Amino acid sequence: MERQSFICQNQEIMSRKIFLSPPHMGTNEQKYIDEVFRSNYIAPLGAFVDRFESSIIEHTGTKSALATISATAAIHLALRVLGVGKDDIVLASSFTFIGSVAPILYQDATPMFVDSDKSWNLSPKLLKEAIKKAPKRPKALILTHLYGQMAHIDEIVSICKESGIYLIEDAAESLGASYGGRQSGAFGDFGIFSFNGNKLLTTSGGGMLVSDSSEWIDRASFYATGAKERAPYYEHIEYGYNYRMSNVLAAIGVAQMEVLKSRVHKAREIFSWYGEELGDSVEFMPEIENSRGNRWLTTLTLTNSSVMKIIKALDQNNIEARMLWKPMHMQPLFKESLSVIDGTSQRLFESGLCLPSGTELERSDIEHISSIIRECL
Ligand SMILES: Cc1ncc(COP(=O)(O)O)c(C=O)c1O
Repeated sequence: MERQSFICQNQEIMSRKIFLSPPHMGTNEQKYIDEVFRSNYIAPLGAFVDRFESSIIEHTGTKSALATISATAAIHLALRVLGVGKDDIVLASSFTFIGSVAPILYQDATPMFVDSDKSWNLSPKLLKEAIKKAPKRPKALILTHLYGQMAHIDEIVSICKESGIYLIEDAAESLGASYGGRQSGAFGDFGIFSFNGNKLLTTSGGGMLVSDSSEWIDRASFYATGAKERAPYYEHIEYGYNYRMSNVLAAIGVAQMEVLKSRVHKAREIFSWYGEELGDSVEFMPEIENSRGNRWLTTLTLTNSSVMKIIKALDQNNIEARMLWKPMHMQPLFKESLSVIDGTSQRLFESGLCLPSGTELERSDIEHISSIIRECL
Protein backbone atom coordinates (compact mmCIF):
# COMPACT_ATOMS: atom_id res chain seq x y z
CA MET A 1 0.00 0.00 0.00
CA GLU A 2 2.77 2.37 1.02
CA ARG A 3 4.75 1.51 -2.12
CA GLN A 4 1.65 2.05 -4.25
CA SER A 5 1.10 5.55 -2.86
CA PHE A 6 4.80 6.35 -3.36
CA ILE A 7 4.54 5.31 -7.04
CA CYS A 8 1.36 7.36 -7.51
CA GLN A 9 2.99 10.40 -5.93
CA ASN A 10 6.05 10.02 -8.15
CA GLN A 11 3.88 9.66 -11.26
CA GLU A 12 2.01 12.79 -10.25
CA ILE A 13 5.28 14.73 -9.87
CA MET A 14 6.58 13.46 -13.21
CA SER A 15 3.44 14.34 -15.16
CA ARG A 16 3.39 18.03 -14.19
CA LYS A 17 5.89 20.67 -15.20
CA ILE A 18 7.95 22.09 -12.37
CA PHE A 19 8.69 25.73 -13.15
CA LEU A 20 11.57 27.77 -11.79
CA SER A 21 9.47 30.27 -9.85
CA PRO A 22 5.79 30.39 -10.84
CA PRO A 23 3.24 32.78 -9.32
CA HIS A 24 1.79 31.66 -5.99
CA MET A 25 -1.52 33.31 -5.24
CA GLY A 26 -2.89 33.46 -1.69
CA THR A 27 -6.53 33.55 -0.61
CA ASN A 28 -7.45 37.22 -1.04
CA GLU A 29 -6.18 38.15 -4.53
CA GLN A 30 -9.40 37.17 -6.32
CA LYS A 31 -11.55 38.77 -3.62
CA TYR A 32 -9.74 42.11 -3.93
CA ILE A 33 -9.89 42.01 -7.75
CA ASP A 34 -13.66 41.45 -7.43
CA GLU A 35 -13.83 44.54 -5.20
CA VAL A 36 -12.02 46.55 -7.88
CA PHE A 37 -14.49 45.35 -10.51
CA ARG A 38 -17.48 46.16 -8.30
CA SER A 39 -16.16 49.68 -7.72
CA ASN A 40 -15.35 50.06 -11.44
CA TYR A 41 -11.96 51.55 -10.53
CA ILE A 42 -10.38 49.47 -13.30
CA ALA A 43 -8.87 52.67 -14.64
CA PRO A 44 -5.40 53.55 -13.41
CA LEU A 45 -5.08 54.41 -9.75
CA GLY A 46 -7.65 53.90 -7.01
CA ALA A 47 -7.78 52.76 -3.40
CA PHE A 48 -5.74 49.58 -3.90
CA VAL A 49 -2.79 51.50 -5.34
CA ASP A 50 -2.73 53.58 -2.13
CA ARG A 51 -3.09 50.46 0.00
CA PHE A 52 -0.31 48.66 -1.87
CA GLU A 53 2.01 51.64 -1.43
CA SER A 54 1.11 51.88 2.27
CA SER A 55 1.86 48.19 2.81
CA ILE A 56 5.32 48.64 1.28
CA ILE A 57 5.94 51.74 3.41
CA GLU A 58 4.96 49.78 6.50
CA HIS A 59 7.17 46.86 5.49
CA THR A 60 10.30 48.86 4.59
CA GLY A 61 9.93 51.70 7.09
CA THR A 62 10.63 54.21 4.31
CA LYS A 63 8.62 57.44 4.16
CA SER A 64 7.18 57.17 0.65
CA ALA A 65 6.41 54.70 -2.11
CA LEU A 66 5.20 54.77 -5.69
CA ALA A 67 3.67 51.75 -7.47
CA THR A 68 4.89 51.43 -11.06
CA ILE A 69 4.37 49.17 -14.05
CA SER A 70 7.75 47.49 -13.47
CA ALA A 71 10.97 47.68 -11.50
CA THR A 72 12.75 48.77 -14.68
CA ALA A 73 10.40 51.77 -14.82
CA ALA A 74 11.04 52.47 -11.12
CA ILE A 75 14.83 52.54 -11.69
CA HIS A 76 14.33 54.80 -14.68
CA LEU A 77 12.27 57.22 -12.56
CA ALA A 78 14.95 57.22 -9.83
CA LEU A 79 17.65 58.16 -12.35
CA ARG A 80 15.45 60.85 -13.88
CA VAL A 81 14.63 62.38 -10.49
CA LEU A 82 18.32 62.37 -9.52
CA GLY A 83 19.06 64.29 -12.69
CA VAL A 84 21.24 61.58 -14.23
CA GLY A 85 21.87 62.41 -17.87
CA LYS A 86 24.38 62.52 -20.70
CA ASP A 87 27.94 62.98 -19.39
CA ASP A 88 27.09 61.16 -16.14
CA ILE A 89 28.65 57.88 -15.08
CA VAL A 90 26.45 55.40 -13.23
CA LEU A 91 28.12 52.52 -11.40
CA ALA A 92 26.26 49.21 -11.29
CA SER A 93 26.60 45.60 -10.20
CA SER A 94 27.76 43.64 -13.22
CA PHE A 95 26.21 40.42 -11.96
CA THR A 96 22.56 41.29 -12.46
CA PHE A 97 19.61 41.30 -14.85
CA ILE A 98 19.42 43.77 -17.76
CA GLY A 99 16.41 45.60 -16.26
CA SER A 100 18.71 46.86 -13.54
CA VAL A 101 20.97 48.77 -15.91
CA ALA A 102 19.02 49.43 -19.13
CA PRO A 103 17.59 52.67 -17.61
CA ILE A 104 21.16 54.07 -17.53
CA LEU A 105 21.03 53.89 -21.33
CA TYR A 106 17.51 55.37 -21.42
CA GLN A 107 19.05 58.44 -19.74
CA ASP A 108 21.97 58.52 -22.19
CA ALA A 109 24.39 58.13 -19.29
CA THR A 110 27.48 55.88 -19.18
CA PRO A 111 27.38 52.64 -17.18
CA MET A 112 30.45 51.41 -15.32
CA PHE A 113 30.24 47.83 -14.09
CA VAL A 114 31.70 46.50 -10.86
CA ASP A 115 32.41 42.82 -10.26
CA SER A 116 31.31 40.62 -7.36
CA ASP A 117 33.20 39.15 -4.44
CA LYS A 118 32.68 35.77 -2.81
CA SER A 119 29.28 36.89 -1.54
CA TRP A 120 28.29 36.84 -5.29
CA ASN A 121 27.16 40.46 -4.78
CA LEU A 122 29.07 43.66 -5.58
CA SER A 123 32.56 43.85 -4.08
CA PRO A 124 33.08 46.94 -1.87
CA LYS A 125 36.82 46.72 -2.62
CA LEU A 126 36.25 46.85 -6.38
CA LEU A 127 33.69 49.60 -5.87
CA LYS A 128 36.37 51.79 -4.27
CA GLU A 129 38.70 50.96 -7.15
CA ALA A 130 36.01 51.87 -9.69
CA ILE A 131 35.42 55.25 -8.04
CA LYS A 132 39.17 55.95 -8.25
CA LYS A 133 39.45 54.80 -11.87
CA ALA A 134 36.30 56.50 -13.18
CA PRO A 135 37.12 59.38 -15.55
CA LYS A 136 34.91 61.62 -13.36
CA ARG A 137 32.98 61.23 -10.12
CA PRO A 138 30.12 58.79 -10.75
CA LYS A 139 26.70 60.24 -10.03
CA ALA A 140 24.99 57.10 -8.75
CA LEU A 141 25.36 53.40 -7.98
CA ILE A 142 22.69 50.83 -8.82
CA LEU A 143 23.32 47.98 -6.40
CA THR A 144 21.59 44.61 -6.87
CA HIS A 145 20.84 42.26 -3.96
CA LEU A 146 21.23 39.18 -6.11
CA TYR A 147 18.75 36.29 -5.91
CA GLY A 148 17.34 37.81 -2.71
CA GLN A 149 20.62 37.73 -0.77
CA MET A 150 21.85 40.96 0.79
CA ALA A 151 24.97 42.69 -0.55
CA HIS A 152 27.50 44.26 1.89
CA ILE A 153 25.08 47.11 2.29
CA ASP A 154 26.56 48.90 5.33
CA GLU A 155 30.01 49.17 3.74
CA ILE A 156 28.53 50.21 0.40
CA VAL A 157 26.33 52.90 2.01
CA SER A 158 29.44 54.43 3.68
CA ILE A 159 31.48 54.34 0.47
CA CYS A 160 28.66 56.09 -1.43
CA LYS A 161 28.24 58.69 1.33
CA GLU A 162 31.98 59.43 1.51
CA SER A 163 32.16 59.78 -2.27
CA GLY A 164 28.98 61.81 -2.76
CA ILE A 165 27.37 59.11 -4.92
CA TYR A 166 23.60 58.47 -4.85
CA LEU A 167 22.66 54.88 -4.00
CA ILE A 168 19.78 53.12 -5.77
CA GLU A 169 19.14 49.73 -4.20
CA ASP A 170 17.90 47.25 -6.76
CA ALA A 171 15.88 45.07 -4.40
CA ALA A 172 13.86 43.65 -7.34
CA GLU A 173 14.67 40.13 -6.14
CA SER A 174 15.05 40.74 -2.42
CA LEU A 175 11.68 41.80 -1.03
CA GLY A 176 11.62 40.54 2.57
CA ALA A 177 15.41 40.19 2.88
CA SER A 178 17.08 42.17 5.64
CA TYR A 179 20.43 43.29 7.01
CA GLY A 180 20.79 44.00 10.72
CA GLY A 181 17.00 43.80 10.94
CA ARG A 182 16.49 46.55 8.36
CA GLN A 183 14.68 45.66 5.14
CA SER A 184 16.39 45.60 1.76
CA GLY A 185 15.42 48.63 -0.29
CA ALA A 186 15.42 50.87 2.80
CA PHE A 187 19.13 51.74 2.85
CA GLY A 188 19.58 53.72 -0.36
CA ASP A 189 18.46 57.13 -1.57
CA PHE A 190 15.97 55.07 -3.54
CA GLY A 191 14.96 51.41 -3.33
CA ILE A 192 13.08 49.46 -5.98
CA PHE A 193 11.14 46.19 -5.96
CA SER A 194 9.81 44.01 -8.76
CA PHE A 195 6.48 42.18 -8.83
CA ASN A 196 7.22 40.50 -12.14
CA GLY A 197 5.68 37.07 -12.73
CA ASN A 198 8.75 35.16 -11.57
CA LYS A 199 9.33 36.96 -8.27
CA LEU A 200 8.58 35.78 -4.74
CA LEU A 201 5.48 37.99 -4.80
CA THR A 202 3.90 38.97 -8.09
CA THR A 203 1.21 41.23 -9.49
CA SER A 204 1.79 39.56 -12.89
CA GLY A 205 3.96 42.58 -13.68
CA GLY A 206 4.76 45.60 -11.56
CA GLY A 207 7.27 47.50 -9.52
CA MET A 208 7.66 49.84 -6.57
CA LEU A 209 9.91 52.80 -5.92
CA VAL A 210 10.61 53.76 -2.28
CA SER A 211 12.48 56.63 -0.68
CA ASP A 212 12.70 58.63 2.53
CA SER A 213 12.28 61.74 0.43
CA SER A 214 8.59 62.39 -0.18
CA GLU A 215 9.63 65.22 -2.48
CA TRP A 216 11.54 62.82 -4.74
CA ILE A 217 8.65 60.36 -4.78
CA ASP A 218 6.26 63.19 -5.71
CA ARG A 219 8.61 64.12 -8.53
CA ALA A 220 8.79 60.50 -9.66
CA SER A 221 4.98 60.37 -9.62
CA PHE A 222 4.89 63.50 -11.79
CA TYR A 223 7.20 61.88 -14.39
CA ALA A 224 5.31 58.56 -14.14
CA THR A 225 2.03 60.22 -15.13
CA GLY A 226 3.08 62.14 -18.22
CA ALA A 227 4.65 65.18 -16.49
CA LYS A 228 1.40 67.13 -16.59
CA GLU A 229 1.69 70.58 -15.02
CA ARG A 230 -0.96 71.79 -12.58
CA ALA A 231 -3.30 73.56 -14.99
CA PRO A 232 -6.93 73.19 -16.08
CA TYR A 233 -5.68 71.95 -19.48
CA TYR A 234 -2.78 69.71 -20.59
CA GLU A 235 0.35 71.77 -20.10
CA HIS A 236 3.85 70.28 -20.50
CA ILE A 237 7.15 71.91 -19.67
CA GLU A 238 8.94 68.55 -19.45
CA TYR A 239 8.21 65.12 -20.90
CA GLY A 240 7.22 62.14 -18.78
CA TYR A 241 6.16 58.50 -19.09
CA ASN A 242 3.14 56.30 -18.55
CA TYR A 243 4.60 54.24 -15.71
CA ARG A 244 1.88 53.95 -13.01
CA MET A 245 0.49 50.63 -11.82
CA SER A 246 -3.23 49.97 -12.34
CA ASN A 247 -5.66 49.48 -9.47
CA VAL A 248 -6.39 45.91 -10.67
CA LEU A 249 -2.75 44.84 -10.33
CA ALA A 250 -2.36 46.73 -7.05
CA ALA A 251 -5.26 44.66 -5.66
CA ILE A 252 -3.19 41.53 -6.32
CA GLY A 253 -0.21 43.25 -4.69
CA VAL A 254 -2.12 44.05 -1.48
CA ALA A 255 -3.12 40.41 -1.11
CA GLN A 256 0.41 39.20 -1.92
CA MET A 257 1.93 41.48 0.73
CA GLU A 258 -0.30 39.76 3.32
CA VAL A 259 1.59 36.50 2.69
CA LEU A 260 5.12 37.91 2.33
CA LYS A 261 6.37 36.48 5.65
CA SER A 262 5.12 32.99 4.90
CA ARG A 263 6.56 33.10 1.35
CA VAL A 264 10.01 34.03 2.68
CA HIS A 265 9.73 31.30 5.29
CA LYS A 266 8.84 28.71 2.63
CA ALA A 267 11.56 29.82 0.18
CA ARG A 268 14.12 29.50 2.98
CA GLU A 269 12.74 26.08 3.86
CA ILE A 270 13.11 24.96 0.22
CA PHE A 271 16.70 26.19 0.29
CA SER A 272 17.38 24.15 3.44
CA TRP A 273 15.80 21.03 1.86
CA TYR A 274 18.15 21.38 -1.14
CA GLY A 275 21.00 21.75 1.34
CA GLU A 276 20.06 18.50 3.04
CA GLU A 277 19.61 16.67 -0.27
CA LEU A 278 22.70 17.92 -2.13
CA GLY A 279 25.06 18.54 0.78
CA ASP A 280 28.68 19.26 0.02
CA SER A 281 28.55 18.12 -3.60
CA VAL A 282 27.60 21.69 -4.62
CA GLU A 283 28.24 25.18 -3.27
CA PHE A 284 25.22 27.33 -2.49
CA MET A 285 25.09 31.10 -2.71
CA PRO A 286 26.21 32.33 0.71
CA GLU A 287 24.34 34.58 3.11
CA ILE A 288 26.55 37.32 4.54
CA GLU A 289 26.84 37.78 8.28
CA ASN A 290 24.14 39.81 9.99
CA SER A 291 21.75 39.31 7.05
CA ARG A 292 18.72 37.20 6.24
CA GLY A 293 18.06 36.58 2.56
CA ASN A 294 14.66 35.72 1.13
CA ARG A 295 16.15 32.83 -0.91
CA TRP A 296 13.91 33.85 -3.82
CA LEU A 297 15.80 31.29 -5.88
CA THR A 298 18.05 28.54 -4.59
CA THR A 299 21.27 29.04 -6.54
CA LEU A 300 24.51 27.10 -6.48
CA THR A 301 27.76 26.42 -8.27
CA LEU A 302 29.10 23.04 -9.35
CA THR A 303 32.64 21.82 -9.28
CA ASN A 304 32.43 18.41 -10.91
CA SER A 305 29.66 18.56 -13.48
CA SER A 306 28.54 20.79 -16.29
CA VAL A 307 25.66 23.18 -15.83
CA MET A 308 24.14 22.31 -19.22
CA LYS A 309 24.16 18.59 -18.43
CA ILE A 310 22.04 19.19 -15.33
CA ILE A 311 19.71 21.65 -17.06
CA LYS A 312 19.14 19.08 -19.85
CA ALA A 313 18.59 16.18 -17.44
CA LEU A 314 16.05 18.23 -15.49
CA ASP A 315 14.35 19.40 -18.69
CA GLN A 316 13.92 15.79 -19.80
CA ASN A 317 12.01 15.31 -16.56
CA ASN A 318 9.79 18.34 -17.18
CA ILE A 319 11.69 20.47 -14.68
CA GLU A 320 12.85 24.01 -15.39
CA ALA A 321 16.29 25.12 -14.19
CA ARG A 322 18.29 28.08 -15.49
CA MET A 323 21.82 29.36 -15.73
CA LEU A 324 22.73 32.34 -13.53
CA TRP A 325 22.49 35.86 -14.98
CA LYS A 326 25.17 36.49 -17.57
CA PRO A 327 27.20 39.42 -16.17
CA MET A 328 26.65 42.76 -17.87
CA HIS A 329 30.34 43.30 -18.70
CA MET A 330 30.20 40.07 -20.75
CA GLN A 331 27.18 41.20 -22.81
CA PRO A 332 27.81 42.22 -26.42
CA LEU A 333 25.70 45.31 -25.70
CA PHE A 334 28.28 46.49 -23.16
CA LYS A 335 31.50 45.29 -24.78
CA GLU A 336 32.91 48.83 -24.90
CA SER A 337 31.71 49.80 -21.41
CA LEU A 338 33.80 50.89 -18.46
CA SER A 339 34.23 48.19 -15.83
CA VAL A 340 36.29 47.01 -12.87
CA ILE A 341 36.34 43.25 -13.11
CA ASP A 342 38.36 40.47 -11.49
CA GLY A 343 36.65 37.44 -13.09
CA THR A 344 34.47 36.47 -10.10
CA SER A 345 31.05 36.87 -11.70
CA GLN A 346 32.22 35.20 -14.92
CA ARG A 347 33.36 32.16 -12.93
CA LEU A 348 30.05 32.05 -11.07
CA PHE A 349 28.10 32.40 -14.32
CA GLU A 350 30.01 29.55 -15.96
CA SER A 351 29.51 27.13 -13.09
CA GLY A 352 26.20 28.24 -11.59
CA LEU A 353 22.60 27.15 -11.65
CA CYS A 354 19.17 28.36 -10.45
CA LEU A 355 16.96 25.55 -9.15
CA PRO A 356 13.16 25.42 -9.05
CA SER A 357 12.18 27.40 -5.98
CA GLY A 358 8.43 28.04 -6.28
CA THR A 359 6.90 28.33 -2.84
CA GLU A 360 4.24 25.71 -3.60
CA LEU A 361 6.89 22.99 -3.97
CA GLU A 362 6.83 20.16 -1.47
CA ARG A 363 9.66 18.24 0.12
CA SER A 364 8.96 15.32 -2.27
CA ASP A 365 9.52 17.67 -5.27
CA ILE A 366 12.89 18.76 -3.91
CA GLU A 367 13.85 15.12 -3.30
CA HIS A 368 12.87 14.27 -6.89
CA ILE A 369 14.80 17.23 -8.40
CA SER A 370 17.83 16.54 -6.20
CA SER A 371 17.96 12.85 -7.13
CA ILE A 372 18.24 13.82 -10.84
CA ILE A 373 21.00 16.31 -10.01
CA ARG A 374 22.86 13.72 -7.90
CA GLU A 375 22.84 11.30 -10.85
CA CYS A 376 24.52 13.96 -12.99
CA LEU A 377 27.15 14.63 -10.34
C1 LIG B 1 17.84 42.35 -10.31
C2 LIG B 1 16.69 42.79 -11.17
N1 LIG B 1 16.56 44.09 -11.47
C3 LIG B 1 15.55 44.55 -12.20
C4 LIG B 1 14.59 43.71 -12.68
C5 LIG B 1 13.50 44.28 -13.52
O1 LIG B 1 12.26 44.06 -12.96
P1 LIG B 1 10.93 44.22 -13.84
O2 LIG B 1 10.79 42.96 -14.62
O3 LIG B 1 9.85 44.38 -12.83
O4 LIG B 1 11.11 45.41 -14.70
C6 LIG B 1 14.66 42.33 -12.38
C7 LIG B 1 13.72 41.31 -12.84
O5 LIG B 1 12.76 41.24 -13.40
C8 LIG B 1 15.75 41.86 -11.63
O6 LIG B 1 15.87 40.57 -11.36
